[in-house]
Amino acid sequence: MDTQALKDSWHVVARSGDQVPLFFYSALFLMYPETRGLFPVSMATQRDRLVSALGRVVSNVDQVEDVVPFLQQLGRDHRKFSVVAQHYPAVGQALLATLQHFLGDRWTPALAHDWTAAYGLVSKVMIEAAEESAATSPPWWEGEIILHEVRAPGIAVIRARLNYPYPFRAGQSASISLAQRQRMWRFYSFGNAPRRDNTIDLHVRVVDAGAVSTALVHGTQRGDMLRVGAPMGDRLTLDTSQPRELLLIAGGTGLAPLKALVEQVAYEGARCNVRLFMGARTSRELYDLEALSKMDAENPWLSVVPVVSHDSFYSGENGYVVDVALKAWRGQDVFVCGSEEMVQSSVARLLDAGVPHQKIRFDEFTSAVGREQ
Ligand SMILES: Cc1cc2nc3c(=O)[nH]c(=O)nc-3n(C[C@H](O)[C@H](O)[C@H](O)COP(=O)(O)OP(=O)(O)OC[C@H]3O[C@@H](n4cnc5c(N)ncnc54)[C@H](O)[C@@H]3O)c2cc1C
Ligand code: HEM
Repeated sequence: MDTQALKDSWHVVARSGDQVPLFFYSALFLMYPETRGLFPVSMATQRDRLVSALGRVVSNVDQVEDVVPFLQQLGRDHRKFSVVAQHYPAVGQALLATLQHFLGDRWTPALAHDWTAAYGLVSKVMIEAAEESAATSPPWWEGEIILHEVRAPGIAVIRARLNYPYPFRAGQSASISLAQRQRMWRFYSFGNAPRRDNTIDLHVRVVDAGAVSTALVHGTQRGDMLRVGAPMGDRLTLDTSQPRELLLIAGGTGLAPLKALVEQVAYEGARCNVRLFMGARTSRELYDLEALSKMDAENPWLSVVPVVSHDSFYSGENGYVVDVALKAWRGQDVFVCGSEEMVQSSVARLLDAGVPHQKIRFDEFTSAVGREQ
């Protein structure tokens, strides 16, 4: 298989921007109208969730070994869309039709052969993982909201109790959907380590004009139901068999998975020191300060430092959270989580300051999971 040709051809196609998903979905829904019902009614803000992932993942098939765990999680997670094995050839055909359309003369039988084989490989991993998980897990979990607190302007902490055992790891996330936003799924990180009572915490910040975040923060209350997809992600999970000193850097609700790690260290009997730097623009946005200060006071191995960047009246640490955290770096493993912008600038700053890249783990709250996979 000529994998360079796959990458080069996807590069050419991707240059057509929004036209690519438009063509893909027209082809898919025309050839297989039964697939329309799997997608959200309005696809305006998110037309690109699936198609760019398809192009990127399939054209990088030469690194498939590296992304097998991600593809397995994705396959299991696709059960929440009611996707079944029979849908994969339909999507594969629409993908081929799209490539052919945008590549014109450059579309050759050899290229068609390689794309088909690559798509087949990726699909096989996803389908097998989905089918295996069907024996033990539901396609999604139902969660009843038992606590809903708007803690700061546009930020809520939500606790839900799931209806069925939910095996996940601290640092992971899952896609969430609401009855009033049917078929719109968005990823949120768990703000807690697994608990016996099967509850999960979400820390949600409203994104401007955001369909699901606005509904979660301002349109839900105790007693409402959430749907929760399969757990995803391993970028921020801890290998506790080899305890290490940790330096955690959170921006806004990027605190959620890092707080989960702190809880995990606490539950497992701390064998290392943890320093958590929680960044916010203003002191009002330090939405979980009370709980974290309490954990700090109770645990000698933990130190929590709030840092505020745009509030000159704040009497504590002022500045960008990464700069304050760097002053405390003594060779610890560094975990960073927050918005795409915050994570990219923080990681660049850490590298600049000499933190080796293998010591840095990070995850970004982008609009689609695996965007930078
Ligand atoms: C792995 C992962 C974990 C996440 N965990 C959390 C979490 O714990 N807490 C949390 O608050 N959010 C989290 N997010 C972000 C979340 O998934 C949504 O992107 C966000 O809530 C916006 O969804 P929406 O439906 O309100 O906006 P949409 O209706 O999808 O989008 C509205 C507009 O905002 C833009 N947009 C969408 N998402 C973002 C974003 N994240 N940043 C900036 N602009 C955006 C869109 O391009 C569009 O223009 C996570 C994302 C990922 C990938
Ligand atoms: C190689 C195969 C595939 C890959 C790599 C892939 C990848 C992805 C990714 C990364 C997303 C965005 C993450 C998310 O929102 O959960 C997504 C969304 C989605 N996928 Fe897939 N997918 C594949 C096959 C399929 C198939 C066969 C179907 C069935 C028709 C399907 C239906 C969907 C739907 C409905 C969405 C949500 C789209 C939206 O919200 O706009 N996918 N896919």
